Amino acid sequence: MTGEDPQMETAQLGPLTVSRLCLGAMLMGGKTPEAESHRMLDAFVDAGGTFVDTADTYGDGASERTLAPWLARRRDDVVLATKLRFSVSDPGGRGLAPDRIVQACDASLRRMGVDVIDLYQVHAPDPEVALEESLEALDGLVRAGKVRALGASNFPAWLLSWAVALQDREGWSPFVSLQPQYSLVERSVEVELLPFCRSAGLAVLPWGPLGAGFLTGRYERGVEAAAGSRIGDAGDALEEAPARRAVERNFRAVDEARAIADEIGATVPQVAIAWLLAQPGVTAPIVGPRTYEQLDDLLPAAGLELSPEQLERLGAHTGPPELYPQRFLLGQNGIDPEQPLRRRDAAARR
Ligand SMILES: NC(=O)c1ccc[n+]([C@@H]2O[C@H](COP(=O)([O-])OP(=O)(O)OC[C@H]3O[C@@H](n4cnc5c(N)ncnc54)[C@H](OP(=O)(O)O)[C@@H]3O)[C@@H](O)[C@H]2O)c1
Repeated sequence: MTGEDPQMETAQLGPLTVSRLCLGAMLMGGKTPEAESHRMLDAFVDAGGTFVDTADTYGDGASERTLAPWLARRRDDVVLATKLRFSVSDPGGRGLAPDRIVQACDASLRRMGVDVIDLYQVHAPDPEVALEESLEALDGLVRAGKVRALGASNFPAWLLSWAVALQDREGWSPFVSLQPQYSLVERSVEVELLPFCRSAGLAVLPWGPLGAGFLTGRYERGVEAAAGSRIGDAGDALEEAPARRAVERNFRAVDEARAIADEIGATVPQVAIAWLLAQPGVTAPIVGPRTYEQLDDLLPAAGLELSPEQLERLGAHTGPPELYPQRFLLGQNGIDPEQPLRRRDAAARR
């Protein structure tokens, strides 16, 4: 642990002020035992971290339950984010029907032993329920004081922008953040989602910032990923499936990260997180260490600043392909598709 400067840079997320690293609790109460989880949470807060992310579905409630005794001691030290949408036994089922939204929120509050959730995130869209019904029910949670702010996760850009426009039109509590997968080895969000979030002022909280561990340098060309590792154990449908991660361009990004890490006396995961922190619009990457040692390695990334030349070298191998209409607008017509959206001011719109 570096431990010399306990402060971490902060950022604004709607009404909430958060540290620029968020600690993901997905493995807590599962692969990470409770005592080690609490040690990691203490170390994170001692290093200046103030932002913790979980979900009801992680370990079928186990992650939220594991947080409870720690929160009983340190609730006021963190901004607490959780999610709903996927399967969990309490309240049972899945989805974003209005009744279920209320029940899922009450169950998360109960499991974590807290009286308010700071950031309540929709884990993914639910095409079975009218969007307005879900958004109105989520607004009700904010009005009831059970939730401070709302966020979305894993939304495509068209649906997120539609939802935010509806919230704006109806005067409902808005999504203040998006939690998308984003890392040096998964950069699709750069095409539509990041420009939208920058334009609309949504915070961006990247999950999978190391590509589930690929950006550590421990996977090698032509060598099967070890069983027991996240990537070695991943089935074909998972985002971190070996077929998706272990491709040449991703290995090149790891090679570059290793070279830069050696140059500056850092580690590959630190360099990968520092790259993310430097991307315009990124608020707070959600790190997901499985062990105390992995957390200890990641913490210095919060203060690691890479030079423009290092950022360019890192980003050179894995950028998204040129796509229409961006290519047509910018390349052929000189219209920057990333210009912030121009709108009449809020008073004129009402
Ligand atoms: N919204 C969503 O749909 C969604 C989805 C996934 C995650 N999340 C959130 O995002 C958080 C992070 O996601 P993630 O776990 O996929 O993140 P990640 O940082 O890409 O991957 C974490 C994995 O990387 C390896 N690792 C981490 N730090 C390391 C280090 N210093 N040295 C070596 N290996 C290291 C570990 O792999 P091994 O276990 O193999 O050692 C660990 O399990 C989660 O806790 C959760 O809160 C959200």
